[in-house]
Amino acid sequence: MRSKVTKAVFPVAGMGTRFLPATKSVPKEIMTLVDRPLIQYAIDEARAAGITEFIFVTARGKNALEDYFDHAPDLERSLRKAGKDDLLEVLKSTNMDSGAIAYIRQHKAMGLGHAVWCARRLIGDEPFAVMLPDDVIAGDKPCLQQMVEAYQETGGAMVATMEVAPDRTSSYGVLDVESHNGAIVKAKGMVEKPAKGTAPSNLAVIGRYILTPNVLQNLNKIDRGAGGEVQLTDAIAMEIDQGRDVFGYKFEGHRYDCGSKAGYLQATVAFALDRPELQGEFQDYLHDILARRLAAQ
Ligand code: G1P
Repeated sequence: MRSKVTKAVFPVAGMGTRFLPATKSVPKEIMTLVDRPLIQYAIDEARAAGITEFIFVTARGKNALEDYFDHAPDLERSLRKAGKDDLLEVLKSTNMDSGAIAYIRQHKAMGLGHAVWCARRLIGDEPFAVMLPDDVIAGDKPCLQQMVEAYQETGGAMVATMEVAPDRTSSYGVLDVESHNGAIVKAKGMVEKPAKGTAPSNLAVIGRYILTPNVLQNLNKIDRGAGGEVQLTDAIAMEIDQGRDVFGYKFEGHRYDCGSKAGYLQATVAFALDRPELQGEFQDYLHDILARRLAAQ
């Protein structure tokens, strides 16, 4: 039996410039899909996978995230008084036990690898997950849970992966594939944001990782990579050079890139259509607006 993965790192220090001006005062992780912030989807997915310790790597301007996961005694009291038990229940999922959540500041924007490295003392000497809340993955079984199950078989390091169009590979970490075994892909290399036409495959890394503590050591050693930033992909690729196993996991589910406006809007529509209380009215509305647009063309 391998060690259980109980810790997850959530890098949430990014400035979210693609969503300015909203992100001038609202952390992008608090932006909502229907009525739940992006970060709530990631936390729920982590919990489903057995994560019990949540490490947030934050930055200046992200205080709203800490408030979000705090108890709100005044609000809870007034809801209780008004007999709104259903809303109290909704709030429960946002509460964290004392000590289950920790915040570390990344003082300089030096990239995803650096953000994870900032959490090294809290991670210690055990395997850990990294979850990028921009990547929202809908599916019957939560993505990280699928990966934790596969990791029990494989060990090593594991990244979520999916096929992307060849002209999109330069936006991602990309796997160089040694062999395929069902949903599990053994990697012989990994490149962060390869220049157009140089990607070793069209299997892109998506923001779910299960990593070994050795990756933290590698983060100590590597230089800045693509975009002048310390890249997590490079520290994982170093595992392969050191003779350790790195796997890609082709998860089941639909991934929304909520770091982009188009992906965020697609997720909003899809999640709204999944809500029984909105479904009927919203579907009729979409139908009408599209019909009107098409008729006007
Ligand atoms: C990050 C990672 C990249 C990965 C991507 C997935 O890039 O560096 O390897 O493919 O997330 O969303 P970012 O999108 O933060 O530039």
